[in-house]
Amino acid sequence: MNDILIKKTIAVFQETFGTSPEKMVLSPGRINIIGEHIDYNDGYVLPAAIDKIICFAFAKNNSKKSRILALDLNEEFEVDLTQPISLSNVVWTNYILGVIKQLQDNGLLFGGFDCVFSSDIPVGSGLSSSAALECGTIFGIAALFNLSIPKVDIALMGQKAEHWVGINCGIMDQFSSVMGQENKVIKIDCKTLDYEYHDANFNDYSLILFDSNVKHSLMTSAYNERREQCDEGLAIIKSNFPEITSFRDCNESHVLSIKEEMAPNVFDRCYYVIKEIHRVALACKALDNGDIKTLGKLLFETHEGLSKEYLVSCQELDFIVDTLKQEKAVIGSRMMGGGFGGCTINLIKKGEEEAIKAKLTQMYKEAFDIELKIYDVKIGNGTSLYEPVF
Ligand code: GLA
Repeated sequence: MNDILIKKTIAVFQETFGTSPEKMVLSPGRINIIGEHIDYNDGYVLPAAIDKIICFAFAKNNSKKSRILALDLNEEFEVDLTQPISLSNVVWTNYILGVIKQLQDNGLLFGGFDCVFSSDIPVGSGLSSSAALECGTIFGIAALFNLSIPKVDIALMGQKAEHWVGINCGIMDQFSSVMGQENKVIKIDCKTLDYEYHDANFNDYSLILFDSNVKHSLMTSAYNERREQCDEGLAIIKSNFPEITSFRDCNESHVLSIKEEMAPNVFDRCYYVIKEIHRVALACKALDNGDIKTLGKLLFETHEGLSKEYLVSCQELDFIVDTLKQEKAVIGSRMMGGGFGGCTINLIKKGEEEAIKAKLTQMYKEAFDIELKIYDVKIGNGTSLYEPVF
């Protein structure tokens, strides 16, 4: 728990609004072990919430307006809750406006509130700081105004807010931010939203994130385009195999047998999705059996697919994975999240972490003149209330 972050958030709330917060919320970012770009393709994913969080302080202000302060940016905005909600040109405010709109559209009534938030989730690193912001805001408003909203609905509203902002994302980020549990990964069935927890026990290996420290602007448009290509491919598959309703019903031979009917890029996307759905099942089994080497091998395979078939990697991420592949101490590595920058997730033999970190940092700097960032993440709890002591 980041005590400094919490104390700072409380202090700034008290200074700004002249009163103590009534509710505090901690909302985490997420990692994903495996199952990339398949949440919106009805697949299974294996994410977990992490110990990097956004800390929120809230109080009612007995008006019809809400004032929200982003402490790390030192920016503030006000929203009149009686007026129609529309997009602003300040990006972070849109996630909050988006969830306010979601709550209102769902007939959930609430009044004005004051809010300060601060975060130690790196932004633009593929750790879903936006999902943490959406879900933490809904959680706080619900607590403040006694709205009873099931956790899964909080995740769904967070996802809709993200769509409103412009990324047609799947459910993985918001679901894992809300539903995370310490030392557990969540296997989510993204079609039914059934889920189960599995022990996050990596035995002799540490889970380390290497942040490429780049974020290519292609992300939003490419993401939405991938979704469209997958939808197009699935429609072709369905028209050939009426018994198939979803990618999860397919095996490789289905798509290989109708390859000529698809544009080459549509084929590549579908081929990746079908293989990745299968890899998640294998990875989950490997994790349960303590077979971390097999899990690592699957991570390398996923990266290969994301890079060569799904085309969401970039030269910096490929460099990190290719470099680490040469190291005996690294048994698995892949880009994580939406892609075009952000982090790789890596399994490194315990005791060898520091040597690998030092070597990669230097090689990465030499190759791109960019500082590699490194996070030793722990798997933490999902969005929750925090009881402060004043
Ligand atoms: C982003 C989206 C998620 C998911 C991942 C890729 O993080 O928000 O819904 O699609 O990319 O797996």
